[in-house]
Amino acid sequence: MTDRYAVFGHPIAHSKSPQIHAAFARQTGQDMTYEAILAPLDGFAECVAQFMAADGRGANVTVPFKEEAYKLAQRLSPRAQRAGAVNTLSFDADGILGDNTDGAGLVADLTRNLHQTLGGKRILLLGAGGAARGVIEPLLDQQPAAFVIANRTVSRAQELADLFGHGITACSFEAADTPFDIVINATAASLAGELPPLSPRIFTDNTLAYDMMYGRDTPFLSFARTNGASATSDGLGMLIEQAAEAFFVWRGERPETAAVIAALRS
Ligand code: ATR
Repeated sequence: MTDRYAVFGHPIAHSKSPQIHAAFARQTGQDMTYEAILAPLDGFAECVAQFMAADGRGANVTVPFKEEAYKLAQRLSPRAQRAGAVNTLSFDADGILGDNTDGAGLVADLTRNLHQTLGGKRILLLGAGGAARGVIEPLLDQQPAAFVIANRTVSRAQELADLFGHGITACSFEAADTPFDIVINATAASLAGELPPLSPRIFTDNTLAYDMMYGRDTPFLSFARTNGASATSDGLGMLIEQAAEAFFVWRGERPETAAVIAALRS
């Protein structure tokens, strides 16, 4: 029987996940379907229950349900526990297992696709919401020389710094004004077409500026280019790498991502 998977979100029509997982399934010869499901804002748990009852095997979870998925899961992977959010659900006889592949997806994109070495580097993470929290631990695992979290509300950045330890510095956007090797925008500012009040001094001709948003040139990426960043990237690679990691969690097979990234870029 064909195994069913889905992504739950609100909105969801724009999601590229069905296309990505269809490509992975074709490539690996896995017998599965993957659909996009619009869950009502007040009906995520019911929607998941219906999908499980209809033989769903697993699901991805996107905005705004990742924290709810964390609460819904009966068991959590260590990385989901630390992220405080779940983007990948697996359903089995023991119930719902929650995992989070976002951070692994970002690290895979930075290291494999963008050929960055993170060990010994200075990393600046912009934002202190759910998207930022989900990627901190996997970035720290790469042993950067410095890790700074800058946020509009400094107390939220400080909470994350206290939670993850490892000598993380928390500050305002304006206070981050020394050069960094990698600057990652995990704020929701790009969604609104806005630019956080960044210092141009964070960028050098060795800086990669990375926006976790994808699909359009953001004010952040254009500000980085204007101020001398040597490379910029949107988050399409992260999207595809987190999907590949979820596919591995479900199917035990890791798909090749390069061709899928190229196809979606064009
Ligand atoms: P997400 O799950 O996308 O991270 P979130 O938890 O609501 O959503 O967090 C949004 C992040 O984007 C926060 O860091 C937020 O800053 P505050 O903590 O000060 O609210 C940041 N953010 C949202 N809009 C922003 C803007 N226009 N400029 C700068 N930062 C912004």
